[in-house]
Parts: sequence; C-alpha cells; structure tokens
Amino acid sequence: MDAFAAPFNLLADRIERSMTERANTSPLTVLGIETSCDETAASVVRRHADGSGEILSNVVRSQLDLHAAYGGVVPEIAARAHVDLLDPAIKQAMADAGLGFEAIDGVAAAAGPGLIGGLIVGLTTAKAIALGLGKPFMAVNHLEAHALSAGLTDGLGFPYLLLLVSGGHTQLLIVKEVGAYERLGTTLDDALGEAFDKAAKLLGLPYPGGPEVERHAARGKPTIKLPRPMLGRPEPHFSLAGLKTALRHEAMKRAPLDPQTIDDLCASFQEAVADVVRDRTGRAMDIYQERLGADAQRALVVAGGVAANGRLTAALEDLAAARGFRLAVPPPALCTDNAAMIAWAGAERLARGLTDNLEAPARARWPLDPEAPPALGAGVKA
Ligand code: KG4
Ligand code: ZN
Repeated sequence: MDAFAAPFNLLADRIERSMTERANTSPLTVLGIETSCDETAASVVRRHADGSGEILSNVVRSQLDLHAAYGGVVPEIAARAHVDLLDPAIKQAMADAGLGFEAIDGVAAAAGPGLIGGLIVGLTTAKAIALGLGKPFMAVNHLEAHALSAGLTDGLGFPYLLLLVSGGHTQLLIVKEVGAYERLGTTLDDALGEAFDKAAKLLGLPYPGGPEVERHAARGKPTIKLPRPMLGRPEPHFSLAGLKTALRHEAMKRAPLDPQTIDDLCASFQEAVADVVRDRTGRAMDIYQERLGADAQRALVVAGGVAANGRLTAALEDLAAARGFRLAVPPPALCTDNAAMIAWAGAERLARGLTDNLEAPARARWPLDPEAPPALGAGVKA
C-alpha cells in the first residue's frame, strides 16, 4: 500500500502550489495512450488556459474480434495486439489532429491498473516519444482518467460524486481535485460490467454481454424475481455475485430457454441491477453531503462502459432529480476505454506540474484512494 500511497501524497502536497500556477497556464497539447485492457487507443487533447478541454483526435482500435471467441480478454493476445496496433494508432491520432510531434507539450500513458503486458507496451512507447521530444511524461492512473473525463466533456468543476462502472471496476468516489479522491464504496466481488458479461454468458449471449443484455431486456418483462443484494446497507458497497447465481438458478429452472424467457431474464436482471445502483448511489450522495457540507456542488458523474446502459442512466436521472444533483454522463465513446481521457488527465496533471520520471512503473493494481479501508470480504480489485 505504501508504495501506492506515495505518488498520491506527493500529488496532494503539490496541489496547493499548482492551484496558483493554474491561472496563468498557457494552452497545453497532450498526446495520450491507452493500452490497459483490450482497446489500443491514442488521442491528442488540448487544455486551454481557462481550464476547458478540446479533443483534437481520438483513435480507438478495438481488439474485440480477437477475444470474442474466448468469451473474455486474453492478456497475452491483448499485449501482442497492442504491439501491432499502437504505432499506427498514434500516427493516425497525430494526422487527425493535423499536428506534428513538435506541437506536443507532453505525453501521457495509462500506467495502471490493468493488464501488465499491455500497460508496458503503452508506457514504454509514451516514454520513448517523450524522451525523443524532450517533453514531459505523465504516468496516468486509468481510473483517474475515467474520474476526470467529465471535466473534458461537461466542463464540470470539482468536487463531484463519481460512479465508476466498467468491466473491471465498480466504485463510488468523491472527486475533490486532481489527485484527491475518497472512495466511499466498492464491489465485494464482481464488477458491474463483469456481472452483465457473466449474465449474458450463462444465457448463451455473446461477449461483451452488457449491450446484449440491454438489447434483450428491451423486449422482455421484468417478471422474474431476483434478489437486490446490499440494498439499504449503510456503506455504499456493491455485491453482485449472488444476483448472478440467482439468475443462473432461475435460468436452469426454465431450461431449455425460449427467446421470450431469455428476454424476460435479461429484463429482470437489469431491473435488479438498476435498483441496486440507485440505492447504493443514493447512499453515497448522503455521505457526500455529510462530508462536504450542504453548500458543496451537487453533481453526480457516471463513467465506465456500463454508463452506456440506458436503463441504469434513467434510474440515475430519477435519483439525481429527486436529490437535486446535476447528472453528467460523458458520451458513450468517452465512457468506454479511450485515450482522450488519458490525454486529458495528463494535461490536467501537466498544468499542475505533476509530471513523472521515466522510471514510473506499470501497475496491475493502483487504487485511487490508497487510504480507503478494505471493504469486508472484498476481492483484490482496485
Ligand atoms: O469501460 P469499459 O469499456 O472497459 C473496461 O472494463 O474498462 O467497460 C466494458 C464493460 C463490459 O463489461 C460491458 O459488458 C459493459 O461495460 N457494457 C455495458 C453496456 N455497454 C457496455 N453494460 C451494460 N449495458 C450496456 N449497454
Ligand atoms: Zn476503463
């Protein structure tokens, strides 16, 4: 933990100094690289002196077809594909931005958390470009990039409550400033996207399961009774493994499954997830207001691939309206893994003088809030 804590403590120390620097920063153009999972992505983003952001290019090469046959991401295949895809993606990002490398003020890469082989590919490439250009390098926490993307897409200032829901992560966090995060809740077992993927798999639907489940749910009725794990618990943690098991039992009872039953199972599962997400996020809103006081900006940001789910965002819209929170959901292309968010997080850090040296390691795990007490029964996911 200590090794993880150090960079964030440093960040916190530097924030105050950087806040004064921020006012007179000139525009910063940053190349960002993302290789933490199965998307090979490169993007150029400009951060203007007023703190607003502009995406100059955003290239994402998905490896989905390489992994689909295995029902999930195969780390070794992903790492090799990043080696093949990254250089052309960077060239494309520079060409789309209409810039030469001399126009770049800094280079950022996702340094974790993620699959270590892929991270090393992106990180090494970014370091080499930064070294060659003699420009600063930023090792970006992939979760921090998700957390900060609402600043780029919605111009949202700090603080805000973040619900981060992807294939690998399910967290509720207070985002106080760049580098200052307080984790309120996490999952004790599966991530939300992972639960969608597993639900789809057990119903015989292809990977990635989230969009499939949503598509089938739209044709079904939520008539099958499923549990709502953790509902009403004081700490805004999640647990999804039991819901998945209950879905398996209901599916087995009805086997062989006809198309209507599959649709109904999907609708019932999605409804249970929506209830859990609404309840857990509502609880996090209570804590957010307790911690920051009644005058703090009331804003909820939803990020990560699962934010593409219309039923979930509708449930969160209701909740936000009822609680007087502004809801910001970055567009789907910026919710799922992309390099614009990495470039933006890099630019935000560069504007505050938060650069890294070329020894910055790739990290399979890298919690945003190293101080957060471990959730009882929680697995090892960051
Ligand atoms: O953020 P992301 O692209 O990658 C990471 O996991 O970091 O998220 C992918 C996850 C997958 O588990 C996928 O099934 C889920 O997001 N997902 C969805 C939807 N679209 C993507 N889950 C539910 N409903 C969707 N429409
Ligand atoms: Zn992600």
